Amino acid sequence: MAAHLRDDDRPLPSWTTRCVNCHVGTSTAAAFAPPLTHDSLLGATRRRGGPISHYDATAFCRAVKDGIDPAGVLLRKSMPRYQIADAECAALWQFVVGQ
Ligand code: HEC
Repeated sequence: MAAHLRDDDRPLPSWTTRCVNCHVGTSTAAAFAPPLTHDSLLGATRRRGGPISHYDATAFCRAVKDGIDPAGVLLRKSMPRYQIADAECAALWQFVVGQ
């Protein structure tokens, strides 16, 4: 799946873009990236100082493709932007929240 960093159009090498390279574990403590689990994404909570929000399929795919969270807050540059088809992203969402 092709991906790049914000403000950098060069494609990232494919071995760097697997979600589990950065999203490990289920705790937010001292993690490089937040957990991608059913509870963490569907739970209504404040993220990055924004208002209370939670993910749904549309918000999840916006974060993955455009780097914007459900409250409209821009994700850090360290979260890649992915070129992913809508159907593929919907399947990824189902996989992630099914855990
Ligand atoms: C190079 C490391 C890296 C990779 C690879 C990566 N992410 Fe991320 N991701 C991050 C970081 C860092 C954040 C936190 C950004 C912030 O808080 O501003 C993040 C945040 C997110 C969020 C927002 C979570 C929240 O609680 O608001 C989602 C959703 C997400 N990533 C999905 C994915 C998916 C799906 C993949 C694989 C297709 C992926 N990420 C691959 C680093 C990565």
